[in-house]
Amino acid sequence: MVSFRLLSLVSLLGVVLASPTYRDFVLHERRDTVPRGFVHNGPAAANQTITLRIALNSNNLAGLEKALFDVSTPSSALYGQHLTKEEVEAFVAPTSEATNTVNEFLSSHGITPTTISPAGDWLSITVNIAKANQMFAADFSVFTQESTGEQTIRTLSYSVPAALKPHVELVHPTVAVGSPVPDVAVTPDAVPASCATEITPACLQALYGIPASVPSQSASKIGVSGFIGQFAQTADLKSFLTTFRTDIPSTTTFAVQSVDKGVNTQGARDAGIEANLDTQYTTGVAGGVPVTFITVGSSNTDGIDGFLDIINALIAETSPPQVLSTSYGFDEPEVPAAIGTKLCNAYMQLGARGTTIFFSSGDGGVSGSQSQTCTTFVPTFPSGCPFLTSVGATTGISPETSATFSSGGFSNLFARPSYQTTAVAAFLKTLGSTNAGKFNTTGRAFPDIAAQGENVAIFDGGEEGTVDGTSCSTPILASTFSLLNAQLLAAGKPVVGFLNPFIYANTGIFTDITTGNNPGCNTNGFPAVAGWDPITGVGTPVFSKLRTAFGLA
Ligand SMILES: *[C@@H]1O[C@H](CO)[C@@H](O)[C@H](O)[C@H]1NC(C)=O
Ligand SMILES: *[C@@H]1O[C@H](CO)[C@@H](O)[C@H](O)[C@H]1NC(C)=O
Repeated sequence: MVSFRLLSLVSLLGVVLASPTYRDFVLHERRDTVPRGFVHNGPAAANQTITLRIALNSNNLAGLEKALFDVSTPSSALYGQHLTKEEVEAFVAPTSEATNTVNEFLSSHGITPTTISPAGDWLSITVNIAKANQMFAADFSVFTQESTGEQTIRTLSYSVPAALKPHVELVHPTVAVGSPVPDVAVTPDAVPASCATEITPACLQALYGIPASVPSQSASKIGVSGFIGQFAQTADLKSFLTTFRTDIPSTTTFAVQSVDKGVNTQGARDAGIEANLDTQYTTGVAGGVPVTFITVGSSNTDGIDGFLDIINALIAETSPPQVLSTSYGFDEPEVPAAIGTKLCNAYMQLGARGTTIFFSSGDGGVSGSQSQTCTTFVPTFPSGCPFLTSVGATTGISPETSATFSSGGFSNLFARPSYQTTAVAAFLKTLGSTNAGKFNTTGRAFPDIAAQGENVAIFDGGEEGTVDGTSCSTPILASTFSLLNAQLLAAGKPVVGFLNPFIYANTGIFTDITTGNNPGCNTNGFPAVAGWDPITGVGTPVFSKLRTAFGLA
């Protein structure tokens, strides 16, 4: 009897050692309220399946950040020596301890994950709701978006076992919901007259000195992001080129890349204003630089409308486009910190590879991506991420002034990067106590740069019209810098890559916009002033000065 008891005790001990229990949960992410625009319908069905992604902490993001600044800061010895895919992945990969600890946890639940990113920092698992609730002490529920009636499953909080806490960056989709907003608005058809009333490619060439042609030996490429079922029409592009770019073949077009089974349906009724604007002001301004319209399917499962999938798809490419233009965004308060940080760090990866990432700053002035009631200023996402270039809007040509809708301000999520410390401190000094308490004086300030964003001529559904928005400014700058990249490559020089350290080290070469303001939240917003400001950044480009600053004769 005694020996029997002893034996069972030993075997019991053995079981305990081999299979850790995961009882001590630690809260990982929580949101206090149901997301804006959604209603809570109660628990999700226990037997329904859900695909969750688990992000593991990277082994050396600080190293990647240093490498990014080394290759992007003009005064650095390593300037222009962009990293390879493998070099970036070596920084981003989780430690083997992280991978082993998480795999052990999943295996204790009988789950084998799929690795869904080249660096191994994203795992995917498919489980039923009952299991998901148990594994992450969650309460997965059904939420309905009031505007569309679409249902989605999220939890307002989740936890991870204490043993996993140091290794798990986030589990997703859990607390993040929401759709990106295109930063464009249609205005009544203007009478085409002059650049004072309608902006066309010729106006931009004249205003910014943008060249009309590309050196023939060029590997410069532009990617244009497309979301929420916005399709770019080749017939509209052809009308646009026939009208506004008679110097290039009207057959010039863009390639289509699909992420999440995205399509690009053709037909006047399928025209998407944002997608048409973005493809017309890349193909039609950087005429000759190959443009790829990256259409992200709306039935994506990434939990943030494809923002995660598109960036992971580009990171996985050996030669991603050297310029990426995106005219969609969120209000920052809608994006939970963990997924916001993970996305921002993904932009850092692409920047280290040599891609210039442009995002529109939003169209609601200081009230966010679109005009709304507010008491404190609403920064936009991802413009607050320090590893991309945020684009504001201007209007008029003599003088060029800031557009009132141009969003700008200060992130609550991301601290101010050192490259903009001096420029932003000068602005805050000029601003004095205006708007005190309505924005975060220590946050990453945006936008960085600006371009025309009002009365911009496009073709949409066969009709000519004009549009307004930082959505216009973004592809215009993407084209400007891809033409510069083409000239740099032809001269055997590296592409511009992550632009911000260059911008703030060379503020004097831009056309400073010093008039106007961006009202919102019952205030006049911020003023445009001499030097950097949170409406137009450092100002608008002068191509000849960019050439000189980048060492082209
Ligand atoms: C889940 O359970 C409900 C009720 O028992 C049943 O009607 C439904 O078919 C089940 N769904 C799945 C996906 O198994
Ligand atoms: C202000 O921004 C910093 C980052 O610079 C952040 O840590 C802090 O939480 C923000 N404050 C508020 C009130 O959001």
